Amino acid sequence: MAPQPNDTRDTFASTLGAFTATVGSAIGLGNIWKFPYLTGSNGGAAFVLTYLLAVALVGVPVMVVEHVIGRRMRLDAVRAYRKVVPHQPYWQVIGWAGLASAVLIMAFYTDVAGWVFAYVWKSAAAAVAGRTLAPQEFGALASGTVEPIAWQLGVLVLTTGIIAAGVSQGIEKVTKALMPLLFALLLVCDVRALTLPGSTAGVAYLFRPDLSKLSGAVLLSALGLAFFKLSLGMGTMTTYGSYLPDRVRIVPNAARVALADTAISLLAGLAIFPAVFAFGGTPAGGPGLLFATIPLIFSKMPLGGLFTVVFFVLTAIATIGAMVSLIEVPVAFLVEKGHVRRPVAAALTGAAMFALGVTATLSQSPVLSGVKLFGKSFFDLYDFLSSNVLLPVGGLAIAVVGGWLVSRTEFMQELDKGYAGVPWHGRAVYAFVRYVAPGLILLILLSSLGAIGP
Ligand code: PFF
Repeated sequence: MAPQPNDTRDTFASTLGAFTATVGSAIGLGNIWKFPYLTGSNGGAAFVLTYLLAVALVGVPVMVVEHVIGRRMRLDAVRAYRKVVPHQPYWQVIGWAGLASAVLIMAFYTDVAGWVFAYVWKSAAAAVAGRTLAPQEFGALASGTVEPIAWQLGVLVLTTGIIAAGVSQGIEKVTKALMPLLFALLLVCDVRALTLPGSTAGVAYLFRPDLSKLSGAVLLSALGLAFFKLSLGMGTMTTYGSYLPDRVRIVPNAARVALADTAISLLAGLAIFPAVFAFGGTPAGGPGLLFATIPLIFSKMPLGGLFTVVFFVLTAIATIGAMVSLIEVPVAFLVEKGHVRRPVAAALTGAAMFALGVTATLSQSPVLSGVKLFGKSFFDLYDFLSSNVLLPVGGLAIAVVGGWLVSRTEFMQELDKGYAGVPWHGRAVYAFVRYVAPGLILLILLSSLGAIGP
């Protein structure tokens, strides 16, 4: 893993900049939409517990490896993995699979982002009319044809436009400045939801685990969510690592990102589940859980209509931050390898994502709802293939490369950077990279295939 001589890449200006940029990729629909939806569909607290363990035991070590390899190689993901182990260029497959993951994720992510943008509009119209959005209005939107596709297209045009114009750094600044506001608004939501009569059942649902709910499939979903949440297993964080200045301490930075990200997810859960129980809804509400619940929570508050609009605006902004980092993966590749101009690369990437994205969107409408592959709709299939297959397998490969194939001395050199001496946690983290993370990923993959219990 020789450091690359051509060290002319831009790096983040400060330690805080490195942290906020990484957090900007991590925080998105995964926290506010996917975490509550998967928790509700997988039986609650046992899933949450597994997810938290997956973040700590697998997510943080894999993020550390990605940052170490990225900073050492200072290359895009495909070239970094091609060169990281001498004479073994085939590890570049990690970068290629990452490109496929980015397109698959965007296919359903833009559908959901479209719902969020539609809800900005719908909640504003409802507020002006002095009414509350009813849960069934979400079903009408998601199962439509022209309307959700139009929103999805709008989202893609906006995000690819940001990338094409090369203003993503400016946009990132805006999104990051608004993160604390999102945090504050989630707290407001939590207080309201937790003081509704009957809400304590929701807290128990989130935090009192019933271990009989665990199965191989549930474990894999929790692991997949940990990867998706922290943007791991596909080279995104390797690329971010290539921008990390030497003074950034990799381990504390990864731990802080994981903590901040997990806090936002838990705050979203603490708003949604207490409210679901208080209103007599069902936690297994599927992908529409967020959209059905949030307007109801705010309807029980003064100025609730206004709060609903602000909530969806902030969610839309966090979503743009994550999407910019997702689109950037194939665009950077096309620009650097394919030698196409940035706007062309953005247009090509956007077109591929839209073509696939339309099938995800229509799979919720009568047009394609009858079509199933491996028993799943296109929407669920893209989600499953990326989060439950490509990212964990990619993460396993990354952990093997970092823990077994890269020289330990060089790995440790990266972990020591930013410290005057040798930090106490180096060896422990390395043991997690070498044994714990790959071991757990392998166990969970085997258990989901039914090869071993539970
Ligand atoms: N981490 C983002 C979220 O949780 O919403 C999704 C994501 C962004 C995944 C960027 C992967 C990625 F490269």
